[in-house]
Parts: sequence; C-alpha cells; structure tokens
Amino acid sequence: MLEKLFEVPIRGSPWKNAVLWTVVAGGVAWAVSRQLKLQELKSLENNKVASRPRTSNSKQKRKVKILYGSQTGKGKGFSKLLQQKITSLGYEAEVIDLSSYDHEKDFQLEANESNICIIVISTYTDGQPPESAQWFYTWLKDVAEDFRVTKSTLAGLQFAVVGLGNSLYGENFNAVAKKMDDWLHTLSANRILTPCLADENVINSEHKGLQEDFEAWLESSLLNLKRAIEGRKVTAKGCESTCEKPCGCKTKKEGGAEGDGTAGKCSSDEDSGPEDEVQ
Ligand SMILES: Cc1cc2nc3c(=O)[nH]c(=O)nc-3n(C[C@H](O)[C@H](O)[C@H](O)COP(=O)(O)O)c2cc1C
Repeated sequence: MLEKLFEVPIRGSPWKNAVLWTVVAGGVAWAVSRQLKLQELKSLENNKVASRPRTSNSKQKRKVKILYGSQTGKGKGFSKLLQQKITSLGYEAEVIDLSSYDHEKDFQLEANESNICIIVISTYTDGQPPESAQWFYTWLKDVAEDFRVTKSTLAGLQFAVVGLGNSLYGENFNAVAKKMDDWLHTLSANRILTPCLADENVINSEHKGLQEDFEAWLESSLLNLKRAIEGRKVTAKGCESTCEKPCGCKTKKEGGAEGDGTAGKCSSDEDSGPEDEVQ
C-alpha cells in the first residue's frame, strides 16, 4: 500500500525504507501533537471564561445577619419577625444570639464580605446592654474609642440598628442602640437604614407601643433594605440628625404611600442609585 501511496518501491534498499518510515512516523507525530495543542488551547480558553471576574453589571446579593442581644426575649422575637419579613421577600437572613457570636473573628469577616448586619439590642439599668451582649458591646466600644485602631476597620460592613427601650428612663432611653449606631459609623461601617429606637412607653411612643414602633420602622425601611440586599449602595444618616423622633419619622417621602415601602421614610434616607456596585 505504501508502495502505491508514495509510488516508490519500499522493497529493495533498506536505508530507503528507513527514511520513508521516518518521514511517515514524523508526519503522524506532528499531526497528533498539533491536535493535542489545539485541545489544550481550547480548554485554557474555557477556563478563562469560567473564572472571568463578574462584569460591572452583575450584582451579588448580600448576606443578612440579624444579631440580637436580649434579656427578656423581646429582641429575639423582633429578630424573628424581621427574618420572616426578609424571607417573605425571597431573601435569606440568619438570626444569631450575640452571646454565641464570635465577634472578634466574624465581625471583621462580615465587613470584608460586605454583609448586612442588623443589630437588635435593648438597654438596661444605667444605659447598659443586656448580659448576653455585654462582650460584644464592650469590644465594639473599645475598638471605636481606641485611638490606635484605624477608623476604617469596619469599612465594607453594611449595618442597621434596632433599639428596644423605654423613654421613661430619660437620657438612657435606648442608650445602647444609639451608642452602637455611633460606634459602627465611627468605624466606617455603612449605615443602610436610619436606626429604629422603639419605645415601650405607650404614652410617649410614636406608634403607641414597642411592636408598633418596630413595625412602622420596618415598613419604612423595606425599600432600602431590599436595595441593600440586592447589592446597591444605600446610605442613611443617623436619624437623630434629621428626625425629631428617631423611630417615628412621619414625614412621607414625596410620592410615598402606605404599603409601597416609602411611607414614613426619613428625609435622611439616601440611595446612590442603581449604578453602584458591591465592593
Ligand atoms: C430593670 C430594667 C431597666 C431598664 N432600663 C432601661 C434603660 O435604661 N433605658 C431604656 O431605654 N430601657 C430600659 N428598660 C426597658 C427595656 O429595654 C425594654 O423592656 C426592652 O423592650 C427589653 O427588651 P429585651 O426583652 O429584648 O431585653 C429597662 C427595663 C428593665 C426591666
């Protein structure tokens, strides 16, 4: 057959045969190696596509952690309500008792991952936190007030504070929530929602009760909470700077209506728009 192919006699001179076989073998080897090279290039290209970083249009949903410190269980109950609301919107949220939260390790991670932490916290005698949140409270205070700690420590963290208290305690009303909101802001965490300072003193309470205050705040916060979870940059000022009653900002945003998530929104709520990206 080779005789026919190359039109040369392969019988006869042995060195001629050797040359012929070498040429044939070389050709086959070249063809095989070229094929392999092609396959290698293709698979490299595929890997590159798979590991290509997300384009600027893709947004990653943020994780939501609800961290609560509670003595008689109200904070835990509101945390669960908040979780249910978030779940009903199609997102996930984890509820964590601050007493079992490894803040020294995990809080920094939350910041690095740009997670959302909603802190639900009550205040007790002399403006102190409930026992279960004492460690977290002291640690956050120390970090925020220590001049050696860089103030950008918690940059990336998205946070909101829900305070439970009683205005009968005067200047200590929701003192823990107010301080935590301030410390987190000092450490460059991004406040996504105006703080809720719920008041169980029915006479003074904006919405006539602790739960009512909480629910009004939740209603007014939903729009920005959804935006923040979707990865958009949402920033709110501390409520005290713009609202007379932090948990009861009654002024509706222009065009806002009950039920559409904008009712009761503070004028301090800001949204930097859809172009913003997760860091
Ligand atoms: C002994 C005691 C002291 C309290 N001190 C304060 C206080 O200083 N400031 C405040 O805003 N609320 C104070 N409160 C009200 C609680 O913060 C409020 O009842 C809250 O809803 C409790 O939430 P929890 O069950 O999640 O701990 C105090 C309540 C009790 C029983």
